[in-house]
Amino acid sequence: MSAATPKHPHPDPLPGRERERTVQVLADLPAVARAAAERFVALARDAAAARGRFTVALSGGSTPRALFQLLAGEPFRSSVPWDRVELFWGDERCVPPSHPDSNYAMVRTALLSRVRVPAENVHRIPAERPPPEAARAYEETLRRAFALRAGEWPRFDLLLLGLGADGHTASLFPESPGLRADDDRLVIAHYVEQLQSWRISLTARVFNHAAFVVFLVCGADKAASLRKVLRASTDPQQLPAQLIRPRLGTLLWLTDREAAALLDEPGG
Ligand code: 6PG
Repeated sequence: MSAATPKHPHPDPLPGRERERTVQVLADLPAVARAAAERFVALARDAAAARGRFTVALSGGSTPRALFQLLAGEPFRSSVPWDRVELFWGDERCVPPSHPDSNYAMVRTALLSRVRVPAENVHRIPAERPPPEAARAYEETLRRAFALRAGEWPRFDLLLLGLGADGHTASLFPESPGLRADDDRLVIAHYVEQLQSWRISLTARVFNHAAFVVFLVCGADKAASLRKVLRASTDPQQLPAQLIRPRLGTLLWLTDREAAALLDEPGG
């Protein structure tokens, strides 16, 4: 990040009321990726014009991959001020950056190899390091990039998230130890029993300070969990995606018809 880049940290707790969420049901995965790409372009242009940079936290998964591939081609590629884009990751698998499971590697292949984002604007999670050390290092990266003082939280211009069939989002899994973290950490490393592996994730509190949150949810295997996550009764230990409620931001769910198939059923 250049020294001249404007920064916009935000104190906690945020004032004001939680905004309403919007659920947009589109035909299929390509339509969801297209709607997300259009949103990405619009937010990038606005943020670059207003603040000189566009900060985005990315996630892994097949639905985001379709979005990144789309952004790397026309007409989107030439519509984004890539030199103003600053990329972060919402979560990472604990593997080296060249590993096929790495969320960073996925973004590099789908997007970064095809557009010009300055290397210093790409802030990957150093997940090849021991997990607690990687989480601490990434916390420092965020604090520096957003020039945070004690008690302040980063405010991403855009946060992209997926939803797992088990209700997880980013690397916040049902009953995973990091869900109980109620301190001021921005980044956690935890062992996810279900996966028998370590994951690094930004915390729900960080996600909830984003200005614009987009969930990308496609496929019939997500229908039951999407219905549960969106219903009124909450159980965030079992459905961590319910923790995401940006208090001063916009929450948009982009889903395909298959994932939305159970939303109108009674009892939701
Ligand atoms: C990851 C993710 C994860 C993902 C969901 C949905 O590292 O795997 O960040 O939270 O977004 O599992 O993934 P799909 O889009 O592939 O269903």
